[in-house]
Amino acid sequence: MNAPLLKCNNLRKSFQSDGNEVDVVRGVDLEVSEGDFTVLMGSSGSGKSTLLYLMSGLEDVSGGTVICNGHEISSMKEKELALLRRREMGFVFQAFNLIPNLTLLENIMAAGFLGDTPKEQLESRALALLESLGLGDLAKRLPSQVSGGEQQRAATARSLINSPKILFADEPTGALNSASGKKVLDYFSSLADEGQTIFMVTHDLKGACRGNRVLYLKDGQIHGEYRFDDPSLSLEDREKTLFSWLVEQGW
Ligand SMILES: Nc1ncnc2c1ncn2[C@@H]1O[C@H](COP(=O)(O)OP(=O)(O)OP(=O)(O)O)[C@@H](O)[C@H]1O
Ligand SMILES: [Mg+2]
Repeated sequence: MNAPLLKCNNLRKSFQSDGNEVDVVRGVDLEVSEGDFTVLMGSSGSGKSTLLYLMSGLEDVSGGTVICNGHEISSMKEKELALLRRREMGFVFQAFNLIPNLTLLENIMAAGFLGDTPKEQLESRALALLESLGLGDLAKRLPSQVSGGEQQRAATARSLINSPKILFADEPTGALNSASGKKVLDYFSSLADEGQTIFMVTHDLKGACRGNRVLYLKDGQIHGEYRFDDPSLSLEDREKTLFSWLVEQGW
C-alpha cells in the first residue's frame, strides 16, 4: 500500500485559558490516503477546527507529529510551511476572507502560485474554476456585489487554483442555504470522483454523506469511524445509515 498522504501521530493541543491548561485535542492518530474524502463530525467545541488547523500547520501542535506528503510539518520553519501550504493544500473556511477590492476572478488569481505559470494560463484556469462553480458570469464583480453563497463558492474556486494535493474545508456549507450548499457539495463530489483528496469538517448530514468515511470526534479524541462500503447506495440511504451511526456515537 502507498504511504498515506497525511499522517497524524498522537496529536495534542492545549490552550491556556484563565491560567488553566485546557486539552482540546487529546492524542489523535489519523491517516488520510490519496483520494480519500474524509468527513470530520462531532459536537460544537469537540475540537474539529483545531484538529484541522493542526493537520494543515495553521496552528502549532502541543505534542505529536503531522507528516504531509513526506514532510514533517511540525518541525518546519514558517516560511517553508507557508510554501507547502500554498503549493499542496487548499482551504475553504466558513469566513471566506475574499479581498474586498478585487473582483472574484482577481481574488482567485491572487491565490495562484505563479511559479512558471504564465498569467494567461492562471487566468483561464481561474475562469474555468468559476464556471464549474456556476459563477462564470460574475467573474468581474466585487465580493460585495454577489451573495454570501456566491462568495462562498468563489472561495471554493480559490482554494483549488493551485491544484492542491489535499483540500481542507471547515464547514464549507455552514453559511449557505440548501440550494447553494448543494452546488458546493455536488462540486466536492465531482472533485472526489476525479481523485481529489478532501478533508471536510461539517455538522451537516447531507454534506457528511458525500464522503467515503466519517470520523467522529468527541472531547478531542476520535471516538468512531464509519465507512461507506456500498457505492451503489443512494444519497438518501447513505444519510439514513449515517444518521443511525451518529446517534450511536452520541450526536
Ligand atoms: N485559541 C484558543 N484559545 C483557547 N481556547 C480555544 C482556542 N481555540 C479553540 N479553543 C477552545 O477549544 C475547543 C475546541 O474548539 P474548536 O474550534 O476546535 O471546536 P469545533 O469542534 O470546531 O467547534 P464548532 O463546531 O463550534 O466549530 C473549544 O472549547 C474552544 O473554546
Ligand atoms: Mg469549528
